[in-house]
Amino acid sequence: MKTIIEPFKIKTVEPIRFTTIEEREDILEKSGYNPFTIHAEEVLIDLLTDSGTSAMSAKQWAGIMDGDESYAGARSFYRFESVVKDLTGYAHIIPTHQGRAAEKILFTLLGGAGKYIPNNTHFDTTRANIEYSGAEAIDLVIEEGKDPESLHPFKGNMDIGKLEKFIRDKGVENIPVGMTTVTNNAGGGQPVSMANLREVRDVLKKHNIPFILDACRFAENAYFIKLREDGYSDKSVKEIAQEMFSLADGCTMSAKKDALVNMGGYLAINDPELAQAARNILIVTEGFPTYGGLSGRDLEAIAQGLLEVVDEHYLKYRLRSIEYLGEKLTDAGVPILQPPGGHAIYINAKKFTSHIPSDQFPGQSIVCELYRFGGIRAVEIGSVMFGKTDKKSGEFIPAAMELVRLAIPRRVYTQSHVDYVVEVIIEIFKHRDSLKGYRILYEAPMLRHFTARFEPIL
Ligand code: F0G
Repeated sequence: MKTIIEPFKIKTVEPIRFTTIEEREDILEKSGYNPFTIHAEEVLIDLLTDSGTSAMSAKQWAGIMDGDESYAGARSFYRFESVVKDLTGYAHIIPTHQGRAAEKILFTLLGGAGKYIPNNTHFDTTRANIEYSGAEAIDLVIEEGKDPESLHPFKGNMDIGKLEKFIRDKGVENIPVGMTTVTNNAGGGQPVSMANLREVRDVLKKHNIPFILDACRFAENAYFIKLREDGYSDKSVKEIAQEMFSLADGCTMSAKKDALVNMGGYLAINDPELAQAARNILIVTEGFPTYGGLSGRDLEAIAQGLLEVVDEHYLKYRLRSIEYLGEKLTDAGVPILQPPGGHAIYINAKKFTSHIPSDQFPGQSIVCELYRFGGIRAVEIGSVMFGKTDKKSGEFIPAAMELVRLAIPRRVYTQSHVDYVVEVIIEIFKHRDSLKGYRILYEAPMLRHFTARFEPIL
């Protein structure tokens, strides 16, 4: 088999800056050992997120010049709307400045005290928006989805038995909406099968509960279905995506992922009354319905990105580039969450640094060492992000998994960048016993991982 190559050539380049280990030790200390607060210029390879970090195509940049910036009724809105309608089949397309703004509008309308909202695994902004409304966000992913070593092909699937029990226990009247996140980012970028989406739809429909997809990475999910699910190998990714969307009543979307842009999102729904109410909030919080939180040029770039992301040469390269990183690490014995997901590799920190207990944040320790040793920025997805301290007992409640996410920006880094990342991780793995735990010096009341300050436990 021939090497699967990047299906593009490079037209514009952006230099990256090299620093020394000594410089990075100093930067880390000043940042409170939290890579979120490091200046991006001081990062060599930035794997913090795949969100808003895509390289746009020449056609997207052309769209930027061509954007219609009229306040109302801009041509760019209608192009965006027609592309999203064609892809999703939903009737009402409401542009927002990013995914969480769509979530905020949805849960302002559907959330509230006493309500429960199930998902395979809520992403942290989704959970935060639900909890901010007073409702509770519940994760019902299958058991295999919580086992870093399980090779289940669709580890993002919802546990249907748990969903049915959950509806019985909480009462249909308290569940205003059910969700599924494709791919399941917080569970390792793992896909959800079409069969599972259909089952979720059937259970929710039986109870008249609307079904909303968190569709940030819909194209990656659709390509996994094509590769792994019976009956889909001959369908196009676009057809598979259309079928996924057809099973739900709407979606929230962060265009910063699978629309290949740096900013944008939308809420797309069929229910005309909900759409009207959403537009009313949109006008107060984001903008007029034909631009929402975006410029005409952003809407052009999203429309073009959605056409490009379902290209199968692109998706073949995309999923292979993640798998390639995963393979090299696995071959060297580095414990990662298996199988590789659609947008990131997740190091299993519990195993990598087994000498550091969860309450000393093993993932944060690896994240700091990746930066110190190799100038690579990654993000902890473990007890810093999801751990809690019980208010009554003061007892530490760790996250289910201690992971470090190496998220790969779309169309940005080449194979030699990835080879460098592999070399750095293997070196760190060799000296892993020297890594130290961390303690938190400051934390915000919500989403603490963004701004927390740490110090190493020496
Ligand atoms: N849903 C999922 C599954 C996400 O991964 C994200 C963002 C959002 C919603 C929110 O979208 O950032 O446009 O407001 N994930 C980024 C990440 C931040 O790094 O995984 P947003």
